[in-house]
Amino acid sequence: MKVWAIANQKGGVGKTTTTVTLAGELAARGYRTLMVDMDPHGSLTGYFGVEADKVSGGVFSLFQQESPTLRGQVIATCVENLSFVPASLALATVDRQLGAREGMGLVLARALADVRDQFDFALVDCPPMLGVPMVNALAACHRLIVPVQTEHLALQGLDRMLRTMSMILKAGKPTLPYVIVATMFDKRTKAAYQALAALHEQYGDHLANVVIPVDTQFREASRAGLPLSAHAPRTRGMLAYRDLLEELLNPTPVQHTAVA
Ligand SMILES: Nc1ncnc2c1ncn2[C@@H]1O[C@H](COP(=O)(O)OP(=O)(O)OP(=O)(O)O)[C@@H](O)[C@H]1O
Ligand SMILES: [Mg+2]
Repeated sequence: MKVWAIANQKGGVGKTTTTVTLAGELAARGYRTLMVDMDPHGSLTGYFGVEADKVSGGVFSLFQQESPTLRGQVIATCVENLSFVPASLALATVDRQLGAREGMGLVLARALADVRDQFDFALVDCPPMLGVPMVNALAACHRLIVPVQTEHLALQGLDRMLRTMSMILKAGKPTLPYVIVATMFDKRTKAAYQALAALHEQYGDHLANVVIPVDTQFREASRAGLPLSAHAPRTRGMLAYRDLLEELLNPTPVQHTAVA
């Protein structure tokens, strides 16, 4: 099983959308795909029709167990091969209640190891803040995907995120490959092109070739509770995420520059 974490400390940059859209496309290709909602706000959980304030258990229960296991916590979606572990509001208390307890950073890694034969991919949607849930996601993943909104202010958040990442790496992992994904690119604005150019300049090789355009279908898909691949498979947003997945799955980057 491969584990990808989708993280950025800045809010509203497309983390949950990236998680759901990539996971939906992986599932459509036949990969058994698990999404993990590490955000106490439960956007991903809500996307699939479950309210985080009604969840008892879910990701939070992992932090209460001696041997963390996801068994019994996985919910199937109506899409074949696609399931998720819900967040609950209680996840917001994990820092205060359990943050200082030893081994709390590796809870998710242990829980995912326990189900590694049941899934081909696990995609972990992170909250927009540093804390025990995000540390767990970074510790558990083989690759970090960092969505960045193509607007000036978003770049500041990125630096913070990458500093956090290196801090966590020092605490355990020698290296963690990461990919920055430019999202919500609005080709009508000069600011979007400027932000993209700045990303290129600062992060070069780490920036995905694919740029995710603004597409109202993402909102429609979330309203319908379906990943975009099941809701509107031919829209430009979906085509871009499909190219992104190609880039992520294949070492040779796909040439994709058009943001039509
Ligand atoms: N490429 C896109 N085009 C248009 N709208 C988008 C796009 N990507 C995401 N959105 C919309 O922008 C909003 C924020 O996206 P999303 O929830 O994925 O961000 P997030 O980083 O997970 O936010 P948070 O930090 O609050 O968890 C959502 O309403 C989503 O539907
Ligand atoms: Mg989110």
